Amino acid sequence: MSVRVTFEPEGKAAFVLPGSLVLEAAARAGIIVDTPCGGRGTCGKCRVIVRDGCSPLNDTERERLTEAEIAEGFRLACQAKVESDTIVTVPDTSRFFEQRILTAGEGARICVNPAVRKRLIEAPEPTLDDQRADTDRVLDALGGDALTIDLEAARQLPTALRADGCRLTAVTHGDNIIAFEPADTTDHCFGVAFDVGTTTVVGSLLDLSTGHEMAVASRTNPQVSWGDDVIARISHAGSDGGLGELQASVVGCVNEILDELVAHAGLTREAIYEITCVGNTTMHHLLLGLDPSHVAVIPFPPVVRRGVVLPAADVGIAIHPRGRLYTMPNIAGYVGGDTVGVILASNFAERDEPTLAVDIGTNGEMVLGTRERLVSCSTAAGPAFEGARIQFGMRAAEGAIEQVRFGEDVAVSVIGDAPARGLCGSALVDTTAGLLRAGLLEPTGRLVGPSEVPEGVPERLARRVVDVEGGNAFVLAHAEETSLDGPVLLTQRDIRQVQLAKGAVRAGIEVLKAELGVGDDDIAAVLLAGGFGNFIRRRNALRIGLLPPIEHSRIHFVGNAAAAGAKMVLACTDYRERAEAISREAEYLELGARPDFQMHFAEAMMFPEDE
Ligand code: FES
Repeated sequence: MSVRVTFEPEGKAAFVLPGSLVLEAAARAGIIVDTPCGGRGTCGKCRVIVRDGCSPLNDTERERLTEAEIAEGFRLACQAKVESDTIVTVPDTSRFFEQRILTAGEGARICVNPAVRKRLIEAPEPTLDDQRADTDRVLDALGGDALTIDLEAARQLPTALRADGCRLTAVTHGDNIIAFEPADTTDHCFGVAFDVGTTTVVGSLLDLSTGHEMAVASRTNPQVSWGDDVIARISHAGSDGGLGELQASVVGCVNEILDELVAHAGLTREAIYEITCVGNTTMHHLLLGLDPSHVAVIPFPPVVRRGVVLPAADVGIAIHPRGRLYTMPNIAGYVGGDTVGVILASNFAERDEPTLAVDIGTNGEMVLGTRERLVSCSTAAGPAFEGARIQFGMRAAEGAIEQVRFGEDVAVSVIGDAPARGLCGSALVDTTAGLLRAGLLEPTGRLVGPSEVPEGVPERLARRVVDVEGGNAFVLAHAEETSLDGPVLLTQRDIRQVQLAKGAVRAGIEVLKAELGVGDDDIAAVLLAGGFGNFIRRRNALRIGLLPPIEHSRIHFVGNAAAAGAKMVLACTDYRERAEAISREAEYLELGARPDFQMHFAEAMMFPEDE
C-alpha cells in the first residue's frame, strides 16, 4: 500500500511505500534536493518542511536543526521517513539548482585523424562477366583485404550498393567497416566528446571531417540525487539495484545531451558514429556499469585502467546502432581519465620545465612534472569549495555570491543579479583573503570578534564582524540584501573548513614537489583547470596559501581541460596513443600512505603571514 507525497510549491506527487525516505520520494517526483553529504546526515543541507505524516525526529535531525527550525516543521529529507500521505515543502535553499556550468576549454591545436572515417567507393556494376560478391566488390574498390565487415553492415550492403549506381560510402572504425551509406556522404562525419563530471556532464559535437566544434550542451549529472561526491555514489552502487540506477541515470543524461546537440545541428542521432568520454574513475565505472566498490577501499584498485572501445549500444547510448564509445584510460582509483585529459590538453608531452596542473572539482587532482616524469595525486578537497559543509555555502548557481571585494566596505557580486542566498567557492576564497588582508582573520585561522577589530579597519567593515551562536562571523550580505530570513555569513566554522580543504590541496602539492625534488622557483607554470579554477582570483588563491608562493603571472587558467582532452581523442587517434602512454607512465602517489603528507597538511592549514 503506497502513500502519496506531494511536493510544494510545484504540487508534484510521488507514490512510495511507507518507510521510504522523503529524499527518495523527492527523487521519484523529479525534485532534486541538494545532498552534499550523500544522505549521511552530516551536512544538514537537505532541509524540508513537513507538517505531519512522517517518522518522529531522530537524533541526527536534533543535532543538525535549531529549535526554531524544528518548531517551524523543518526535517532532513535524508532522515525523515514517510508514514502516511503528506505534503512536503522544499525551500529554494535546499534545492540543487542548475549550476553555472563551464563548457569552454582551451583545447590545444587539434590534429584531425579520427578513428571513424568515411571512404567513398566507386565500384563497377556487377555484370555476367563480373559476378564478384558485393562484399568483394567493395573491398576490392577499397584495396582493403585487411578490412572486415560487420554482419549488420553486410546486411545493408546490397541496398546501399545499388541505390546510386555502385557509388556508396563505407564507414570504418579502425579496420572494421561498421556501416554503408548510399552515395557520397564523406563530408558528413560526426562524433561527440563527453566530459562526465561528478556534478556536470558536458557534450561537444564535432565535425570529424574538420575537427570543428558545432555545438555544446550540458546538464547536471542526475546522479547528484544520490550524493555529491564519489564516495556517496560508490556507496549507492553497492545497494540493491543501485549500480543499475546510477548507470541508467547517467546514460539517460548523455542521451538527452545527444538529442539537444543533434537538434541544434539539424542532424539525427544515427549520424553520430563515435563518442568519447572522460571522467574520474568512479564516473567512468558507473557509465560502463562496472562495480566501483573496490575504488573506495584500500588499496583502491580500479576495475579497468586502459582505454576501452566498445559498441555504444552496449551501455545504452543511442547513437548510430553500430557507433562506438571510447573511454579515456584512467591512472588510478582516484585519478581518472579526466586528469589524463587535463595532462593531454595541457601538453605535458612538450614541457621541459616542471609544470603543475591543479583541477579542483568535487575532488582535487594535482599533477606535477615534465615530459620525462609525471607524478599525480588526489585529495578530497572539493566539498568546501563546492559549497558543502559551509553554513551558507552553495554551488555557483543563481543567488550565489561569487565575488567579494574589500575596501571601505565589501562589495559583492551575485550570480543572476538576484538577492543573495549563499556563497560559492570563489567568494569563499575572496572573503578569506580579504579578511586576512584586513587583519580580521589571524594566520591560525581565528576570526576576530567584534571587540577585537584592529585599529584602522574602516568602520563599515568593522560593523560586519559579529558574534553569533557558535562563534565569530563576518556578514557578507545583510538580511535586507538576501532572499533568506537573515544575513549571509561566513562563520568561524566555515573558515576551519576552508583551512581543511586548502590544506589538503596544498599538502598534496608539497608532497608532489618533494617527490620530484622541485622547489617553488623551479615551477615554470601552474595550470588551473576545471570550473572552480576558472572562477577564482589568482592573487586571492595565493593569499590564502592554496597555491605555492610563485609569481602570479606564472598561473594560467586552462578552462575545462578534461573536456578539451575528450575532444582531442575524438578528433585524432594519435592522441589516444598519447593518452594510453600517460595512463601507463604517470605515477600515482597515495597521499594517505605518505608519512610527509600529515606534516605538510598541518603546516598548510595555517594561512600565510603576509602576501
Ligand atoms: S544531511 Fe541530508 S543530505 Fe546531508
